Amino acid sequence: MFFVTELKGEIILSNSSFCVYQIRQHFPILDQMINEHPLIYLDNAATTQKPQAMVDAIAAYYLRDNANVHRGSHHLSLRATAAFEGVRETVKTFINAKNTKEIIWTKGTTEGINLLANVLSKGLKAGDEVIISALEHHANIVPWQMLVESLGIVLKIIPLTLQQDLDLKSYQKLLSAKTKIVSVTHISNALGVINPIKEIIKLAHQVGAQVIIDGAQAVGHLIVDVKDLDCDYYVFSGHKLFSPTGVGVLYGKQHLLEALPPWQGGGEMIKTVSFEKSTFNQLPFKFEAGTPNIAGIIGMGAAIDFIRVFNRQDLIDHEQSLLTFTEKALLELPAITVFYEGGVKSGALSFAVKGEHPSDIAMLLDAQGIAVRSGMHCAMPLMAELNCKGTVRVSFSIYNTHEEAERFIEALKKILEMLE
Ligand SMILES: Cc1ncc(COP(=O)(O)O)c(C=O)c1O
Repeated sequence: MFFVTELKGEIILSNSSFCVYQIRQHFPILDQMINEHPLIYLDNAATTQKPQAMVDAIAAYYLRDNANVHRGSHHLSLRATAAFEGVRETVKTFINAKNTKEIIWTKGTTEGINLLANVLSKGLKAGDEVIISALEHHANIVPWQMLVESLGIVLKIIPLTLQQDLDLKSYQKLLSAKTKIVSVTHISNALGVINPIKEIIKLAHQVGAQVIIDGAQAVGHLIVDVKDLDCDYYVFSGHKLFSPTGVGVLYGKQHLLEALPPWQGGGEMIKTVSFEKSTFNQLPFKFEAGTPNIAGIIGMGAAIDFIRVFNRQDLIDHEQSLLTFTEKALLELPAITVFYEGGVKSGALSFAVKGEHPSDIAMLLDAQGIAVRSGMHCAMPLMAELNCKGTVRVSFSIYNTHEEAERFIEALKKILEMLE
């Protein structure tokens, strides 16, 4: 069976329900020229582009339903609340949580980890251990270092193997009865390494530790099933999942969230308030003080609805084929070093050009309309470990094409010739 798509007057035939050209039509931003070249957006690990349906949902909310949620008995407030709470159901299904009480709205991954570090710290004392990994983003390093300063907890780091993935044997040696929290990333934003988090979670549970997974890079690239993973908490940002900036999700097992104290105080998170004492709301509102980002959350719901239309495995396979092609082509260029060479990656691919600064390469690519990220990728300790001053990172999403990957390689070859 063939699927037919029309793109700018051209008929495109595809033998899969997945057609990248059809997907691209939903992302108007991609159709523009940069420096007289068609834009090729390969900075998806930093933030993804947004489908029209998501932008329309935000506009519709502001133009038709705008009101505060949970508070009013008037029509607009009821409509806004229904749309807003409907997204909790959407997210619950998307990550396979048990119920909507386990879905807490945040500003993003950074806020999710800070929230957890803050409330979990109430149960920690000096000498308790928290394990993170050498592959972490600063968002999963600094909040724990702040607890080292304030509480005297001990931070332990899972080191890298020579292949630049996590050394699980060393991890097992770090685990002990003193380990209270293990907080690791699902996918490394800098190198694209997919961590064996199911194994990491299982081992942590054997010593009674709770596990936080930083899913910032994973939700847009993998099928995430929090029940199957058995993680205690899973955090991610909407903007890496075709959603607006400033919204994110903290998933937590219900009984664990119920046992935790609230984080910020204010409206929404209380049941009763008197000058003597306040009592707190039930989940999920206990962790949601103040007016939330209503439009952003409604937008996130529309973005998730948009990608759920496609077969997720088709999207994953497409991205994998782009990564495989690009890595192979990069490895044929003698001046290039690929990080985590040959390892199973998702989303991102990092490389260095012998003798050249990553920012110069990124600027020269931008001159040809190609957007990539260069630098430390908010992972300075990892860059120190890799003994490099940064990398050039290309990161793909569902709307990138093979032509774009080829054009990126051609553009890079031109730059390398010019720099010779
Ligand atoms: C792995 C990882 N963790 C955390 C973050 C922080 O996400 P945000 O800035 O959306 O809070 C990022 C962002 O790049 C990331 O890639």
